[in-house]
Order: sequence, then structure tokens, then C-alpha cells
Amino acid sequence: MRYVEIPVPEAYELQNAGGLVLVCTRGPDGRYDLAPAAWCCPLDYSPVSKLILVLDTGHRTYADLSDSGEFAVALPTKAQVDLVKRTGSMSGHDRDKFAELAIPAFSARVVDARIPEGVAGWLECRLSRIVVEGTSGVVMGEVLRAEAVPDAWKHRVHYVREGLWFAPGDGL
Ligand SMILES: Cc1cc2nc3c(=O)[nH]c(=O)nc-3n(C[C@H](O)[C@H](O)[C@H](O)COP(=O)(O)O)c2cc1C
Repeated sequence: MRYVEIPVPEAYELQNAGGLVLVCTRGPDGRYDLAPAAWCCPLDYSPVSKLILVLDTGHRTYADLSDSGEFAVALPTKAQVDLVKRTGSMSGHDRDKFAELAIPAFSARVVDARIPEGVAGWLECRLSRIVVEGTSGVVMGEVLRAEAVPDAWKHRVHYVREGLWFAPGDGL
């Protein structure tokens, strides 16, 4: 093996599987929001599944879930990369993404969130705890309910960094 040194600010990419999710929330003003997050991973599975999101504390979705104590993570597919890019390039602080982008969506089953149609699945979560490190909020959630198509992982899209995406079985 020939190794090259990786600059420290890029080291996170070495372990960023980037299984992309769309964080879906509702704010105290009643407006729904959604934002992509590539930094999401499992935290526990017994007796229930838990997950971790790393969200910038400036995001509207972060403010929403801190306030409401609940959120959903939806699993976008390869066909939804455009939706991911659009929802990731505007903030719900000053824009209504669902209305502006005319995103078809349905209600989550047990938390108050809108799930975009066409996702491979989604997990509905109760907020367990947040640990703030700098401007990053490490958000821990307990899964209350989940639904997905069979073999959902095959349909998911992954994001490593700007311009570098991949999906199971192809080089997106
Ligand atoms: C592919 C992609 C992945 C992203 N991953 C994250 C992430 O893991 N954590 C984060 O805080 N922001 C992430 N972002 C940025 C937010 O999605 C973006 O700033 C969004 O506009 C926040 O919207 P909000 O203010 O409505 O919550 C990502 C954006 C894109 C396009």
C-alpha cells in the first residue's frame, strides 16, 4: 500500500459513508421544513433503534427539532438528487421549501412532519438528547416508527463531499 497524508480538514471524508437523509421537521409557527444531512448514523438498536444526526445549530431544522422534540429522517433515492440539492441550498428560516419547490408530500404517522413522496423509507424519531460542540449539534433520536420499501438500502444515495456522490451498484 502507498499512503498519502490527508489534510486534517478533509480527514472526515475517510469515514463519511454519507448515507444521505432528509431531516423533516415542523416549526413552532406551524411551517414544515426539510434539509439534507449526510452526517447521520446508527446509535443503538436494543431495546429500540436510535440514531445520531450532526446538524449545524444555525439550521432551521435544528431549531425546529430542538423546539418540538421530534423529527423524521427520510431516505432520498437517486432520482431525488435534485430535490436534495435544492433543499440543501436554501434555509427554512426565511423560505417555505415545501411551498416554493412544490414538493409532493404526506404526513408522517406518529410525529408531526411531512415526508416527501418517492423516498425509499423514513424513520420517525423522538429527540433524546443534543450535545453541542462548537457550531455542531449532535442530535440523538429514538426511533418510534419506521417504514421502507424492501431492500431500501439499494435505492439510497450517498454523499461524501461536494461533487462526490455514490449509490449502491453504480457510480453516480
Ligand atoms: C448533500 C448535502 C448534505 C448535507 N449534509 C449536512 C449535514 O450532515 N449536516 C448539516 O448540518 N448540514 C448539511 N447540509 C446542509 C443543509 O442541508 C443546508 O444548510 C440546508 O439549507 C439547511 O436548511 P434549514 O435551515 O432549512 O434546516 C447538507 C447539504 C447537502 C446538499
